[in-house]
Amino acid sequence: MMNARTAKQGNPEEVMESIKDLLKMKNAILLAHNYEPPAIQDIADSCGDSLELSIKASQTDADVIVFCGVHFMAETASILCPDKIILLPVENAGCPMADMITADALIKKRSEMPDAVVISYVNTSAEVKAESDICCTSANVIQVVNSVPSEKPILMTPDKNLAQYARSRTGRDITYWSGYCPIHNNLRADQVLKVKKAHPDAPFLAHPECSPEVLALADEIKSTSGILAYTAHSGKQAFIIGTELGILHPLSKANPEKTFIPADPGMFCPDMKKIGLPEIQHALETMSPEVRVGQDIRIRARAAVERMLAILSK
Ligand code: 13P
Ligand code: SF4
Repeated sequence: MMNARTAKQGNPEEVMESIKDLLKMKNAILLAHNYEPPAIQDIADSCGDSLELSIKASQTDADVIVFCGVHFMAETASILCPDKIILLPVENAGCPMADMITADALIKKRSEMPDAVVISYVNTSAEVKAESDICCTSANVIQVVNSVPSEKPILMTPDKNLAQYARSRTGRDITYWSGYCPIHNNLRADQVLKVKKAHPDAPFLAHPECSPEVLALADEIKSTSGILAYTAHSGKQAFIIGTELGILHPLSKANPEKTFIPADPGMFCPDMKKIGLPEIQHALETMSPEVRVGQDIRIRARAAVERMLAILSK
């Protein structure tokens, strides 16, 4: 049997080699969100936005998925891959927006709107997904909203900004929860105007979790991977980036000759930086902490996630 190299504490290169060995030994893959620290993105088998990572998780032959992101992402992998071991190297890497709604609160709201189709952002707990009709991500929210029969009212949770963006693009009557991402919601229109003035030729690319006032200033509104794809194909040389700072690493790596200017250098998600290489190594050595969604919730949550995936394959 193969032995993983034991890394001297604090030597990042050796920790990295040890992680590579452990991944092979355990038939594991490492998935990382576009906001994760550079060293993690560089060692990952795949990086992506929430949608891409869910799809990767559902397609892999690996026995183990090391999920470097936040809790709802690891849960989504568990919902789609009940037979795999899903490791989230730091258990309390969460998403404050996902915590802004509970299943009980959604059940209560649904009882007030019995005809509504409930669309929940993937940034929700498995319990909330289980009480929802369909999920969406920042990459497919418009398609998901347009898939709902036109006579049906819609209730969207938990992101008020994503919901207002979807309402403005589809013209649909959407009631929404009052949740938000503290990092994106804090980006102010006057700050964006200041950066735009300093870089008049740079298009402003914003994530749909930003406020309506900020999105009104955007040249393009896209998921994290949507921003990556757009900048790769654009003829422009400089871009103002309205999302979490972690994305600057893959942007600069893929486009070394282009310039990326943060709309606000304070757009930092602490939860996305909780995992480091030592935590990944430890998770693979101990096969913990594991995220596993219980059967009852999983089956109902999976229906909501699969309805979303089915729309994309149409
Ligand atoms: P993406 O799906 O666009 O990567 O967004 C996830 C997220 O948490 C944004 O804050
Ligand atoms: Fe949640 Fe916002 Fe962090 Fe994304 S950036 S994980 S939405 S808190």
